[in-house]
Order: sequence, then structure tokens, then C-alpha cells
Amino acid sequence: MVQLSAVESANITLAQSRPLVAVFVGATSGIGEYTLLALARAHGKTGKGLRVYLVGRSAASAKSIIAECQRLCPSGDFRFVQVDTLNLLQGTDECCKQITKLETAEPFGGGEPRIDILCMTQGFVRFGAAEITPEGLEVSMALLYYSRMRFTTNLLHLLLATPPSHPAHILSVFGAGLEKGATLHLDDLSLTKDPKAHYGFLNLRVHVVHMTTMFFEHLAQQHPGKLSLVHVYPGLVLTPAMNHPSYPWWFKAAAFVLKPIAKRTVAIKPEEIGNRVLFLATPRYLARGVEDVKTSDGQVPVAMGSDGVRGGGAYSCNWDGETNDIEKFYVKLREQGFERKVVEHTDKVFEVVGRGNRFEE
Ligand SMILES: NC(=O)c1ccc[n+]([C@@H]2O[C@H](COP(=O)([O-])OP(=O)(O)OC[C@H]3O[C@@H](n4cnc5c(N)ncnc54)[C@H](OP(=O)(O)O)[C@@H]3O)[C@@H](O)[C@H]2O)c1
Repeated sequence: MVQLSAVESANITLAQSRPLVAVFVGATSGIGEYTLLALARAHGKTGKGLRVYLVGRSAASAKSIIAECQRLCPSGDFRFVQVDTLNLLQGTDECCKQITKLETAEPFGGGEPRIDILCMTQGFVRFGAAEITPEGLEVSMALLYYSRMRFTTNLLHLLLATPPSHPAHILSVFGAGLEKGATLHLDDLSLTKDPKAHYGFLNLRVHVVHMTTMFFEHLAQQHPGKLSLVHVYPGLVLTPAMNHPSYPWWFKAAAFVLKPIAKRTVAIKPEEIGNRVLFLATPRYLARGVEDVKTSDGQVPVAMGSDGVRGGGAYSCNWDGETNDIEKFYVKLREQGFERKVVEHTDKVFEVVGRGNRFEE
């Protein structure tokens, strides 16, 4: 486990050493909100400058979170980008256009328009039957995988514009390391060809986790020295998600009974998980191809990439900052060309939906 004191000190170094532009998607609640507050706190009154685009649905939540951010970081420039829903890639595209327009019109700090950190926490796991969107995608897959990869690729030109010595950091919070537990349907990656047979809570998780690992590795290889991409399992965090209206009664009842016990035992506190997710945007998680990979900041060693290369650029992390040992899950898949399959599938979804059509697997 990376010690919390090392996490906090690396976060302060991050926010105090250079101006940052960050995009937070899904930070109107829960882990995204806690990470945003951790960044505002690390910057405080003495950081080098901070601009944040907060993407979300609820203007009321955004307003109160931004008020708290401004209390912690009075000089910060916090901007709310409202979206109807990210169930649809169309919503993601509109947000990205708006962020690009705003950042291009008035680049932060007067240099090139850029994004240093993209942190994505949108979505939740659906229990019960699959729900297919008008774009032909399953709702949770759309939020947890497609919209996140779409934010990354749509904003790539800004992510690649960070200064040479500082890669952009892309963070996706969901279920990294949880590759086991259900079948990976290689002929139905989107789980929409036969949702009755293929879709389930565990299948969804297994698909999102495998596909994120592959797509992030692909981007890290395509852009050496420029991108650090981390997906992470946050452990148990008692967020408003526990009471999601779509959850079945038995889940809510179990959560109600177990919450007080979990709070005292296994649950990770909001401030801690915020700090730990932000830490994934520090130099321990290097872009691929950077030569000196022995230590990041002299305190914690550079992390092992999900492909088994130290400093590989794409990482699968546990809540405590350590990387998951997942190579064994991908040996056979790599031999079968799984990475190419995931990338081609994702590109096809983006192309079909981007043209305004419905995706059919
Ligand atoms: N909490 C945990 O213990 C835990 C454990 C493992 C994995 N995770 C994963 O971590 C991520 C964050 O979880 P959390 O507990 O922080 O959840 P949360 O408090 O419910 O936050 C989720 C965020 O996603 C946004 N969102 C949901 N559906 C959306 C939609 N259709 N369009 C736009 N935005 C949408 C929510 O916006 P609104 O505020 O508008 O609803 C909220 O900002 C999720 O992917 C979750 O599956 C959490």
C-alpha cells in the first residue's frame, strides 16, 4: 500500500508546482466529487493555478461543490459544463465540443489550450435486465466504458498539448483488477447482440474492465511520453450511489443494515479516496517510454504497467495505489489479438454512432 502521507505529499507537489487544467466527469457526487475536492485542497491558496471543468447533470450539486472548491482554492477557475445525460455518446460529444471551445477561446495561463487531468467517475452498475439506448448501447456499458473512451479520444488533442515533461493523466474509476467472475463474450463485446443471454451485473463488470485495460494500453503505446492512463478499483466507498433509485430493494436493505458497520471497518473515507484517486495523476504513473523509470519522485517507485512493463503508461490499480497483478488474464487474449479487436470494435461504435446511426453488433 502506498502510505497516505506519501500520497498527500505527492498531491501537494502536483498542485503546487505548475498550473493545471482538469476535467472531472461525474463529480457532482461521490468519488469524483471527493477527488475534485482533494485537488482544490492540495492547491489551496498557494498553488500555481487551477482551472476545472466539472461535467454533470445537476446544476444544484455542481453549484454547492464549486462553492466548496472556491472556499478551499479561492483563486481557482471552476466551470460547470451541464449535460442532459451521458447515456448517449451524443451528450459526450456535445460536452467535449463545449470544453474544447472554452479552453481554446481562453487557454489557461495564456499558453496552448490543454488538459492536464481527465478524471472520469460517471455511471453505475445496473442490476437486472439490460437497457439499450437509442444509440444501440447498453446503458451501463455506455457510461462506464464507451463515454469514458469517447471523452478521452475527443479531448486527445488537448491532452496531447501538455508541456513536454508532463504527460496528461487520464483516470477512470470503476473495477480495475476485477477480471474474474463471469464470461467474456468475445463475439458480443457490447453485450447487445444477445443481452438476455450475455448481460448481467458480473458480465458488465468483466467486459468494462477488460476493454478499458486494452484501450488504455493501445493509447499509451500510440502516444509514448504523452499520456498516462490509469483505471482503478476504489474499494468500498459509502457514496450516494448506495441508494441509487434503480437498485433492487434487497440491495438497499442490505446497504442500510451494513453501512454503519462498514463505515467503522472496511469503508474507505471520502477524503482518503479523493486523495488516493488524485495520486494516480502523479509521476509514479509515468507515460510510456520515459527513460528514467526507477523512481518517480524519490519516494515511491514507478508503477508497473498493465502489460508488465514498468512505467508502461497504462495501469490497473487497486484503491491503495498499488498495481493489480493481471497479466495472467491477458496472456491467451493477447495471443488472440484481443487488443486489436477491442480497438476496432470501439472505433466502429464511435464511427456508427458518430454518424447518427444506431449501433448493431
Ligand atoms: N462507491 C463504491 O464503493 C464503488 C465501488 C466500486 C466501483 N465504484 C464505481 O466508481 C464510480 C463512481 O462511483 P460513486 O460511488 O462515486 O457513484 P455516484 O456517487 O453515484 O457518482 C456517479 C456520478 O456519475 C454521474 N452519472 C450517473 N449517471 C449519469 C448519466 N446518465 N449521465 C451523466 N452523469 C451520470 C452522477 O451524476 P448525478 O449526480 O447527476 O446522478 C454522479 O456524478 C462508478 O463507476 C462506480 O460504479 C464505486
